[in-house]
Amino acid sequence: MNKERKLIIAGNWKMNKTVAEALDLVRGLKIELGNVKEVDIVVCPPFTALGEVSKAILDSNIRLGAQNMSENNVGAFTGEIAAVMLKEFSVRYVILGHSERRQYQKESDALIAKKALAVHAAALKPIVCIGETLEQREKNQTQQVLETQVHGSLAGLSKEQMSETILAYEPVWAIGTGKTATTAQAQEAHAFIRGVLVKMFDDTVARKVRIQYGGSVKPSNARELMSQADVDGALVGGASLEVRSFSDIIKGSI
Ligand code: PGA
Repeated sequence: MNKERKLIIAGNWKMNKTVAEALDLVRGLKIELGNVKEVDIVVCPPFTALGEVSKAILDSNIRLGAQNMSENNVGAFTGEIAAVMLKEFSVRYVILGHSERRQYQKESDALIAKKALAVHAAALKPIVCIGETLEQREKNQTQQVLETQVHGSLAGLSKEQMSETILAYEPVWAIGTGKTATTAQAQEAHAFIRGVLVKMFDDTVARKVRIQYGGSVKPSNARELMSQADVDGALVGGASLEVRSFSDIIKGSI
């Protein structure tokens, strides 16, 4: 696929996979995807599997991501994980502000922006998630919600930091539901988000930023979604838990 920006496809394993299961999955992916150079491939296991997965992918084209990170560097923050701890396992990417964390952990745009700054301070790359709910889409509030989330979750980032940030547009109604945005809906939202980045940063930055689509991405719809001009990859949940489906998504988008 001829794209302006290199595709980045990440698997968000969420709260799935023991260490043994994680190793099975990642060993299978190494075999299937060993020759792929056209796409940046990222897996985001739960924290407990980062150490073993990190060793297993050491000599491969698969990069490691985490699903969350503390905005603080060290100290009395029970249950939290700091950047320096992720770096011990050669983590490169950190998913921030996933809609499940916005919903269940009540993460706000302001908190996500703090986390994004902490991720950059550690020379890691954030994957910042945004997206509207079904209710917001039905009330025609999609653009307003996306604009607010982009401004709030990326507040304070420099142009250099923004250029190294990945965005994931994930309509909440499409996550884990089997309902995918149409290619037209995805392209429209991605182009709108890029337009917001032009105003907030500048044209050069906006052209560099990769915007992933997320929400029920599977082998049968991935290629068409990623063929859209402003769709620069995918954040895959359910279909990233199996070797076959995740590798088919990646191979299908080359
Ligand atoms: P899904 O999840 O692919 O299972 O819809 C996507 C995500 O939540 O990142």
